Amino acid sequence: MQELLLHCRPGFESEAAAEMQALAGEQGIAGYAVTADGSAVVRFVCPEEGDAGRLMRKLDFRQLIFVRQWALGSWLEVPAEDRISPIITACAKGPIASQLWLETADTNDGKALAALTKKLGRPLESALTKTRFVRPAKAEAPRLHVFFDSGERLFVGWSWANNAAAWPMGIPRLKFPREAPSRSTLKLEEAWHHFIPRDEWDSRLAPGMTAVDLGAAPGGWTWQLVNRHMKVTAVDNGPMAKNLMDSGQVEHVQADGYLFKPKKPVQWMVCDIVDKPARSSALLSRWLTRGWCREAIINFKLPMKQRYREVMQCLEHVQDALDAADIRATIACKQLYTDREEVTCHVRVLHAGSYRVQ
Ligand SMILES: C[S@@+](CC[C@H](N)C(=O)[O-])C[C@H]1O[C@@H](n2cnc3c(N)ncnc32)[C@H](O)[C@@H]1O
Repeated sequence: MQELLLHCRPGFESEAAAEMQALAGEQGIAGYAVTADGSAVVRFVCPEEGDAGRLMRKLDFRQLIFVRQWALGSWLEVPAEDRISPIITACAKGPIASQLWLETADTNDGKALAALTKKLGRPLESALTKTRFVRPAKAEAPRLHVFFDSGERLFVGWSWANNAAAWPMGIPRLKFPREAPSRSTLKLEEAWHHFIPRDEWDSRLAPGMTAVDLGAAPGGWTWQLVNRHMKVTAVDNGPMAKNLMDSGQVEHVQADGYLFKPKKPVQWMVCDIVDKPARSSALLSRWLTRGWCREAIINFKLPMKQRYREVMQCLEHVQDALDAADIRATIACKQLYTDREEVTCHVRVLHAGSYRVQ
């Protein structure tokens, strides 16, 4: 029987499970999650034949917060002497794929399987191409995921490029830019990859745009904005990296980010201040409803307990504030690979009844 295999950050299995359970319930599809703490994967089992696939088709992957990647398929026991034949037999029962992704969980146990997946990669790929279960020319075909739980237990599943993460295990391989002053620079870059389609970067992250970075020091996020040739107001009492200030594109304002008001509306507000999520969502709502920015990216740092509920409450508050101000916007939220005890929220204003700048 088919089920969904969900990847998540280790330690966030119950959040991913709660999220999928709630969404399946909204769709009227019966299912239950199987989790193990720290395993970085969740099984979502739908007892009714065909329901797991139906659930995957009905859900928009972009609305999933704690799920990094997913695949529809089933489990397989494989003997150590010949792992390839049972995989080929399983593939015969599924769709033709455009490419093969070998995956493990994002855990130490998963990493320990890297040597095995590396050894198996070439021969498996060649067997799948020969049997024509993988055809690289069929770009629109799904990706075949072969997930190793151990050397003997695998999950063989499929995901569709238009409704799944673009990377195996949902982990983008981003290169740390040497000139950036902090590693958290990758967080903003990953957020853009996740929330903004690549073909819209030139218009939505355009040279000459204005941006405010709240809690900016030492400047990892500001570096990304400067790298897109934006003019940035960096708000933080802490010091900004000298190379950023030398770029001439950054104004450093030493002030409290919660009290700061831009002189003119800006295209982008980004915020990486570590605070209670309710305070961050109130800050976000204020910027949007006062028309101070068109797009925003903000981190919600999560408490230890009730993390799923807390995120949903924050998103509801933002949505309520937008509704009350008659502003149409898209709200999205994701626990990115670079997010630890936090999630990243993106809002884009599509239409505002009447903008007020206060
Ligand atoms: C996680 S760091 C930001 C890192 C930054 N995004 C980067 O990529 O380099 C959080 C920053 O928020 C600043 N901060 C904390 N409370 C603040 C507040 N109320 N107003 C402005 N900045 C604040 C801290 O000084 C700290 O530099």
